[in-house]
Amino acid sequence: MRGIRITGWGIAVPDKVVTNDDMAVRLDTSDEWIVERTGIRERHLGGTTSGLAIEAAQAALASAGRTPEEIDHLVLATTTPDSIVPGTAPTVQHGIGMRGGAFDINAACSGFVYGLITVAGLIAVGSGPVLLIGSETLSRITDMDDRKIAIIVGDGAGAVVVEPVDGPGGLLSWNMNADGSLKHLLKCEHGGTLFMDGKEVFRKAVRVVVESAERAMADAGLGPEDISLMVPHQANVRIIQAAAQRLGIPEDRTVVVIDRYGNTSSASIPLALNDALVNGRVHDGDNLLLTGFGGGMTWASAIFRWNA
Ligand code: COA
Repeated sequence: MRGIRITGWGIAVPDKVVTNDDMAVRLDTSDEWIVERTGIRERHLGGTTSGLAIEAAQAALASAGRTPEEIDHLVLATTTPDSIVPGTAPTVQHGIGMRGGAFDINAACSGFVYGLITVAGLIAVGSGPVLLIGSETLSRITDMDDRKIAIIVGDGAGAVVVEPVDGPGGLLSWNMNADGSLKHLLKCEHGGTLFMDGKEVFRKAVRVVVESAERAMADAGLGPEDISLMVPHQANVRIIQAAAQRLGIPEDRTVVVIDRYGNTSSASIPLALNDALVNGRVHDGDNLLLTGFGGGMTWASAIFRWNA
């Protein structure tokens, strides 16, 4: 049996920081409204999905002490590919200077968790080290004059190097879910901009996160007291708080970075994970609950035991 462990991590965000006060210059909104309703204080905007992905991947490779030649395959979670054809992953592969398979996963904001599960499957059937990246430039598909959505989005990328280990490895349990009958809640048509039914997404998000996280815990034979850190998708701090409370996970065991990055879709979980790692919040043997939800709707959870 071959399992996985994460050996390197890195992020990239555009240089341009846009605060809520900057937003309020062009939109009828305020720092107070945005912080109270979403928890967001600022976001980074700009760049391309491939450019940010390359930068994050290079940081992750350096942290793993791996060269591009040592990586077998690349999986890129994104809902904002640079073009429809080709996928963005091959551009990233070329940019990094590696070989092997390279493909995009579009599961919206659940993309990174879908990706981790996919990578575990690749490794189980024989792959060597895999680069898993979540990268987004949501600002490119957002009407920045629409206050309902412009204040939420951010751009950025996070990457991890996932390597095989003998034995079961770190992925203790996982589930992936989708319900296409809810596609009208969050969508972007060809050539259009993002539409979101914020209230309905909010309601559904809390419910599905709780349901899938509880299932993942049950499948791993763990209770909320065994979860060292919840690393959730960063869409709204109130969604994170409501879900954590219902799951019985205290706030000091959740990771929140939405204040600095906004909602970066597939990039939000690796941005949060990186933050927890660089701040020394993850220790050997810790059980991490990764959980995401987004357009589709899609949702997914995984419990990952950190093995340094
Ligand atoms: N600044 C000021 N006022 C705003 C505003 C803004 N940026 N955006 C909307 N408003 C106004 C609305 O026009 C409305 O005014 P009205 O009552 O006069 O009509 C009022 O604020 C309330 O709007 P509403 O949409 O009901 O707010 P809300 O409390 O639901 O918060 C979201 C809006 C988007 C922050 C919230 O619904 C949310 O976060 N939803 C989940 C989104 C999500 O998770 N998306 C990602 C999925 S991956």
